[in-house]
Amino acid sequence: MKKVLLSGIQPTGDMHVGNYFGAIKQFVDMQNDYDAHVFIADLHALTTVQNSETLKKHIFNVTATYLACGLDPAKVTLFQQSAIGGELCELTWMFNCITTVAYLERAVAYKDANQKAKEPTVGLFDYPMLMSADILMQDADVVPVGSDQKQHVEFARDTAEKFNRIWASNSSNGVFKLPEPLILESTGIVPGIDGRKMSKSYDNTIPLFGTDEEITKAVMSIVTDSSGERPENVYAIHKLFRPESELENLYSENKGKYKILKDTLTEDIKSFVAPMREKYNYYQQNPEIVAKILEEGGQKIKTRTQSKMLEIKKLVGLI
Ligand code: ADP
Ligand code: TRP
Repeated sequence: MKKVLLSGIQPTGDMHVGNYFGAIKQFVDMQNDYDAHVFIADLHALTTVQNSETLKKHIFNVTATYLACGLDPAKVTLFQQSAIGGELCELTWMFNCITTVAYLERAVAYKDANQKAKEPTVGLFDYPMLMSADILMQDADVVPVGSDQKQHVEFARDTAEKFNRIWASNSSNGVFKLPEPLILESTGIVPGIDGRKMSKSYDNTIPLFGTDEEITKAVMSIVTDSSGERPENVYAIHKLFRPESELENLYSENKGKYKILKDTLTEDIKSFVAPMREKYNYYQQNPEIVAKILEEGGQKIKTRTQSKMLEIKKLVGLI
């Protein structure tokens, strides 16, 4: 029996190099060895994207990105979170009823929003419970993510333990498995062009399927620090695209020549993404293929979820 892998990305913007190395590449690398489920977290995205056209566009683009990066629908169940819909919301509600406000107040994302003096919505506050439902509903063993999502997976573990204690104490394994986050040390935090974590919310990204001009512009904007031996911010991104054994020479031969190093990085990124971009454009031109894949994945995951939900409802006493 293969172990269950589950992960998702919110359709909130164009995918960047950090999303690829931090998350998507893991899904692709692991799809042969796991019972893999990868989704588009469209219900989570409602916390920020509140324009229907924009949301639709992003849902399509994330799906096309998954496919272009090499996820194979014959091996992975690829679906929209909202294709499950009801059962996830029901499970989220059950989790809400056993989770304290104080516990959710510890969530980093919620604290961040509070610090930025934005008025957090109930949806943002409850985000970790919906994410716990995503993970636990499919009995996930591993959840490959970037390190910013570690706390969320820990919340899912805590919630599984709590639920098992309350409603499944008679069974030796409980009803929910305890999931493990899978975070690679080398790519858990991909730096952006300003040296901070690459994130669309910092406006410091290198777009994965940007035009040549956009990629060039982003690389040329990488902040360089002249005090060290080599431009660390450039190097940190470059090592994702070329083995460090080659980079050592390149950087020592071109000490101080930032333009040459940045030009080389630009070329390396372009040739790395070119075949994926070609596929991405193919899916953009053939949206019906993407729609069909999502529909099939949606049906598959709905059936799987319904049988799990039956078990859960019996335990809770709803049926
Ligand atoms: P963003 O920070 O740009 O909004 P998301 O929160 O949508 O990105 O992240 C989607 C996935 O990509 C998550 O698994 C997240 O951990 C991963 N990820 C995002 N940015 C990075 C990064 N800079 N380094 C490593 N992983 C990342
Ligand atoms: N919170 C994740 C992110 O922002 C997206 C997500 C939602 C997710 N549900 C999940 C990731 C379940 C892994 C498993 O990237």
